[in-house]
Amino acid sequence: MKIKGKLYGIILLFITLTGFAQMPIFKRYYTADIPGLGWLAEFYVIHSLHYILASALLCLAGYSVAGFLLSKRGLSSLTFWGGVKTWLILGLVVSGGLMVVRNLPGIYFSHVAIYLMNLSHLGFCVALLMVSGFTRAAGKPWVR
Ligand code: HEM
Repeated sequence: MKIKGKLYGIILLFITLTGFAQMPIFKRYYTADIPGLGWLAEFYVIHSLHYILASALLCLAGYSVAGFLLSKRGLSSLTFWGGVKTWLILGLVVSGGLMVVRNLPGIYFSHVAIYLMNLSHLGFCVALLMVSGFTRAAGKPWVR
């Protein structure tokens, strides 16, 4: 359980970092000029890292959901805040997955759909970070 929590924390930190780096704010605001942080301005490096971390997140999510479903109490053992974070992660997976499809060659979406994908992904990300900060500070657990 402890290892799973640590792994989730590491994935969340780096997936957020590589997500924001794609915007690309670290190059624009000179953060990437700090020695050791130059990789944050290499689009294909951070883009690939975001995909690798997304795969790791999906594996962890699949493993956790399977664990819940196989346990006697199932998903009902999630707390209110655990449920909120689960829905936000689902939103990130769906909006992120749609953007992966959008990035494939030969696939075209309307401008409005692209805006909605970007804004919802960013919105879910910011909401998850805020809720995670709150649950961590207030000591609210995922499960009862
Ligand atoms: C299965 C999970 C995920 C997938 C498949 C995914 C995929 C993507 C893709 C394709 C992009 C657009 C890159 C481009 O410009 O082409 C993106 C951007 C981004 N991702 Fe994710 N992502 C996932 C999870 C997350 C998570 C968990 C976070 C943070 C909590 C996150 C934060 C961001 C941010 C901040 C951006 C840049 C803003 C935007 O374009 O909306 N992503 N992601």
